[in-house]
Amino acid sequence: MKKNLTATGILLIILVWGCTHEAPVPDPGTGNPSDPGIPTPTEICFEADVLPIFQSYCAKSGCHDAATHKEGYVLDSYSNIMKRGIVPGNAVNSTLYKVLFASGENRMPPAGQAQLTDAQKSTIGIWINQGAKNTINCGAACDPNAFAYNANIKPIMNTHCVGCHSAVNPSKGIDLSSYNGTKAAALNGSLYGSVSHAQGFVAMPQGAAKLSDCKITVIQKWAAAGAPNN
Ligand code: HEC
Repeated sequence: MKKNLTATGILLIILVWGCTHEAPVPDPGTGNPSDPGIPTPTEICFEADVLPIFQSYCAKSGCHDAATHKEGYVLDSYSNIMKRGIVPGNAVNSTLYKVLFASGENRMPPAGQAQLTDAQKSTIGIWINQGAKNTINCGAACDPNAFAYNANIKPIMNTHCVGCHSAVNPSKGIDLSSYNGTKAAALNGSLYGSVSHAQGFVAMPQGAAKLSDCKITVIQKWAAAGAPNN
């Protein structure tokens, strides 16, 4: 009897340890030049680089938009994002950062949804470590005359669109994570029509602010040039 109890105890310990032992969450650093090995010298821009990721990958209908608010999280604006799950200055203890690295059911975005790239995860982590500030009117400068697919179009799609238009879960069948999918939307006019909020098109990005005039011009010029794979 005693032997059995001991064996049960050991089994329990193994089970509990096995279930709670997750891989450690990587600390993304602060993004400051004094932080060795981190290439980003400037402050992360919340409005340009962080908010669109939350809006496109998380604040979707059925997930963390205001109507659904799964688990009480609404991730559509700065004030809502700051309500829970973020400890300013401490990414590795912030639930909204930790879930990006979790496994099984705790993992976000869940299986079957577009996943964040490593670069997007570190952008969120560095932003939290820098104090999770509501920085606006910042971000990389946009050049209206630079409209190559890889350098200019793809980053816009990844930040603002792929959360809802990925290969695994393409809204309306439109996959903006690949060149071919983006080209198809460019050539049939719906890419520029939707981002410019033209009549007859559903306005995009859904649930988020209109893209800057410069980004819309870049998309227009790339589409007008025949959407080259450059
Ligand atoms: C939060 C989710 C979400 C985001 C972010 C989003 N889309 Fe959409 N998109 C949708 C949904 C849902 C539809 C289908 C809408 C409908 O048919 O009513 C759609 C439809 C479209 C269409 C077809 C529009 C038409 O009138 O035919 C295009 C083109 C499009 N999206 C492009 C984009 C682009 C470009 C971005 C990024 C700048 C973007 N979407 C961001 C969810 C999203």
